[in-house]
Amino acid sequence: MRVHIHPRNARRRIAACAASLALALMFAGGAFATAAVPLTANPLPSLDPISDPTSTSVLVNKSRPLSPANYAPADLINVRGTGQYMRQEAAAWLNGLFQGAADAGTGGLAVVSGYRSYAQQQQVYSSYVSQYGQAYADTISARPGYSEHQTGMAMDIGNAAGSCGLTTCFGDTVAGKWVAANAYKYGFIVRYPNGYTNITGYSYEPWHLRYVGVALATDMNRRGFATLEQYFAGNPAGAASIKSGADLVAADASGRLLRYPATTAGGYAAPVQIGSGWTGLKQGFVVDWDIDGVYDVLAQWDNGTLGVYRGLPGGGFASQVVVGNGGWDRMTITVGKWTHADARPGVVGYFPDGVLRYYPNTFGGALSAPQAIGTGWNGLDLTMADWEGDGANDILARTASGSLINYRGDGWAGFYGPATTAGTGWQYMNTLLPSFGLTGAGTRGITAQTVDGNLYNYGLGAGSWTTYGQVGSGWNGLKLFK
Ligand code: DAL
Ligand code: ZN
Repeated sequence: MRVHIHPRNARRRIAACAASLALALMFAGGAFATAAVPLTANPLPSLDPISDPTSTSVLVNKSRPLSPANYAPADLINVRGTGQYMRQEAAAWLNGLFQGAADAGTGGLAVVSGYRSYAQQQQVYSSYVSQYGQAYADTISARPGYSEHQTGMAMDIGNAAGSCGLTTCFGDTVAGKWVAANAYKYGFIVRYPNGYTNITGYSYEPWHLRYVGVALATDMNRRGFATLEQYFAGNPAGAASIKSGADLVAADASGRLLRYPATTAGGYAAPVQIGSGWTGLKQGFVVDWDIDGVYDVLAQWDNGTLGVYRGLPGGGFASQVVVGNGGWDRMTITVGKWTHADARPGVVGYFPDGVLRYYPNTFGGALSAPQAIGTGWNGLDLTMADWEGDGANDILARTASGSLINYRGDGWAGFYGPATTAGTGWQYMNTLLPSFGLTGAGTRGITAQTVDGNLYNYGLGAGSWTTYGQVGSGWNGLKLFK
């Protein structure tokens, strides 16, 4: 079935014949060719951005106190003349959020509680302990030195009308719903979402906004992360699940499934075994199939079945749900949000007929009927990634001779504009996969496993490679999940 997608862009085109276009580019004598390997060194962050209290990416929770414990920001300002304080950048974006909420007809937002010093947090916490006892107090209040309010980047908000102040019903109000859906556009996240107490350590607080910057908030939103704990690599709260953040997952020759935690230095720590019996796999993908904030595994089995193993928040998997029946072993696929309308990652791929098809994942279960979106894709290796950084995924197609061709997605299932060469020399790579957050919060890239078992990461900018660096060796014999 061919589903009609509206041509939002008049210049939208379908890439008619990928293979012949690729051939044309290859024979163009290098006119379009760019270097496969950018000549810049990999600038790794010198400060750990999730530990630095001045960083907008700082991760503060029950196991990660502020360092130093009595940290106080230097650039606090009075927010909207309320007598509540935030750091300058956070306050400026909060103004934008308030304007956006007002413009959207929500009735408006109000400032409730912003910056709290170590001493003020001590008072807040102690008063909850004397009111409710320590165990309950710990579910609603951070201890001094452990509160995001002390970073100057948190703000508790409410309705302008004052209803549902600091109560969970704020989340059900027009303003509360608008905030949950739109805060990321202004660089904020609802830090303690409903249903994630086991991960954040705190009960649902629809009013507590944390400023993390637009790049990080947008990245979390696009990839379906509900909490900072799950977003950042290598933190204990996320350790039990399939992976978090930039971690890699791979199956070894004996079918053990291994998780390699990403380190803040831009590499990988020793693996943790998270499963066994993963032999007979054509390719595995790690995606949040049902957008519950916990990664799942999409397994493309040699027997032709396409199955999803839901990751459980406490670790381990639910049993397989078949999302595609028969013949998937003969298909070359890539997985991700192919259109702007996709809330969940779907599948794009081709059978030996070379017809490229897009299978939407409408329900977080079985795939919906496909639509054909191109022909002549035979023999190309596919990686879905946002090459231009325009918010719409593209397909980086690798030819047998090692050219990496960018087919620009138009965000509405089709393609837009001419294909361009993103690189050459990629025939020496075994597996390519999109990576996120490996070299810093909000960063994107392509991780490549060479045929001799080295790993490289290539940073992605807006239509160009930014960084390049070796991030591992000795990965021979491992089937990397994409
Ligand atoms: N209510 C949040 C957890 C705090 O005290 O920082
Ligand atoms: Zn708060």
